Amino acid sequence: MEEAVIPRGMHDCIPDYRDIHAVEVPAYTDIEHHTWAQLYANQHKVLPGRACDEFMAGLDTVGFPAERIPALADISDHIAAHSGWTIMRVDGLVPNYEFFKLLSERIFPSTDFIRRPDELEYTPSPDMFHDLLGHAPLLVNPRFCAFFEKFGQAGVNAFTNPAIDPAARDWLPRIYWYTVEYGLIRNPGGLRIYGAGILSSPKEVLYSLSDGPKKLPFDLEVIANKSYDIWHMQEELFVIDSFDQLEDSFYAWAHRHGLL
Ligand SMILES: [Fe+2]
Repeated sequence: MEEAVIPRGMHDCIPDYRDIHAVEVPAYTDIEHHTWAQLYANQHKVLPGRACDEFMAGLDTVGFPAERIPALADISDHIAAHSGWTIMRVDGLVPNYEFFKLLSERIFPSTDFIRRPDELEYTPSPDMFHDLLGHAPLLVNPRFCAFFEKFGQAGVNAFTNPAIDPAARDWLPRIYWYTVEYGLIRNPGGLRIYGAGILSSPKEVLYSLSDGPKKLPFDLEVIANKSYDIWHMQEELFVIDSFDQLEDSFYAWAHRHGLL
């Protein structure tokens, strides 16, 4: 997500590719398909027992190909069949207001380019491996989807309702960071990961569950006021007990601040 912007119509800001079937699939090279295959194989090794049960179930449901880059339309169709969410193709990071608006309409924006082979471990701007493997599996989970849609609605309100404290436009990206991108969850089997920023990076998967980062109790007032660092491994992570807790506590927090 980028810095806050003045809300404008979506058509003024980013191309509207809502019909994912109308978007041409790029002619990926063999090297690009190989990059996907390597990334997929790496994560396939490290995710079991570390990614949360809900994510692993979603990974099965979405059914990514192991060897070749999938078409966004195929992944979108699989997700839509289970939750009604769809994927929209975007060029890169989406400005905050437009991003919230899409989520409120149960649309997740994804890029359709893959990182370079020398960026297997880390890419500064999220590519389709991050967007799809990191995010798509939870888009078939009803509890997570309920939270995500509310999050989008709260974001739209933060930009459009003049009665809301403008600071909310900064609070929400922090909440997004410490939940959707870098969240941990307690599963019956132990501490697990649900954040896409962690799940799409082999190093971050191992580091997040090690004794390295501090594991903090989930508190949205703390998170909303906590800045984050996009350039280094995360040293402080917040742990939820369930996606019900995430949705309920987000709703309560947003309600308290007039966002929902
Ligand atoms: Fe992401």
